[in-house]
Amino acid sequence: MRVKFVAGNWKMNGNLASNEALLQLLLPALAEITAVETVICPPYVYLSQARPLLRGAKTALGAQDLCQYGNGAYTGGVSAAMLKDLACSHVIVGHSERRALFGETDDLVAEKFAVAQQAGLIPILCVGETLAEREAGTTEAVVARQLQAVIKRSGAAALRNSVIAYEPVWAIGTGKTATPQEAQAVHAFIRGRVANADRAVADAVRIVYGGSVKAANAGQLFVMPDIDGGLIGGAALVAEEFAAICRAAAQKQAV
Ligand code: 13P
Repeated sequence: MRVKFVAGNWKMNGNLASNEALLQLLLPALAEITAVETVICPPYVYLSQARPLLRGAKTALGAQDLCQYGNGAYTGGVSAAMLKDLACSHVIVGHSERRALFGETDDLVAEKFAVAQQAGLIPILCVGETLAEREAGTTEAVVARQLQAVIKRSGAAALRNSVIAYEPVWAIGTGKTATPQEAQAVHAFIRGRVANADRAVADAVRIVYGGSVKAANAGQLFVMPDIDGGLIGGAALVAEEFAAICRAAAQKQAV
């Protein structure tokens, strides 16, 4: 049985006061939800703020990105070692916003995945197609290409210590969620691709869905056999909404 996994990606939002208020509400609610693994991913500059608030909590700390290089002359970069130093356990790599707005290629994402794992971080690898790619019927080809870059760089076995997030770009922040059937089809495809390389890893790896997940639609998504949780954007900034999504994951855990 795969334990459900829900991560909140705060993206570039928040400030000291709002983060404090959000975590004060959120952490007690999450403490009651024991059947699900939860992670919050604040912006880099607020990791130090979140860290003491999370001490003793079951919720883990993650970052939204990392630099592919180790410590050194890389102005503006944040290394895997720095994230470890701040008690991060997870890091998102290859978010579609990084790919589309910051020019990250499949190879760069694969490198970041490898560097994160070498440092003992669990990468949350994002894959997903744009609307144009979906309409052109290339969803599977795009997702397979993004996944293959990581398998080529790190090997399929490396996916065992990762989480894969399927985030169709057209569903992110748009209010347009993939239907549970649409999402399930791509999740099953991803698991099948991993299985081609390593059956046991495919059975074990969590594949979570991201893109306009809300408390109102989370349950329908999480009940699907290959949807092992969610990567949540906007709804992760609202304590009750995020907690309700985590509760939905807990309810579907046994299915
Ligand atoms: P939304 O939940 O705001 O659509 O964002 C999804 C996402 O990109 C999480 O990484």
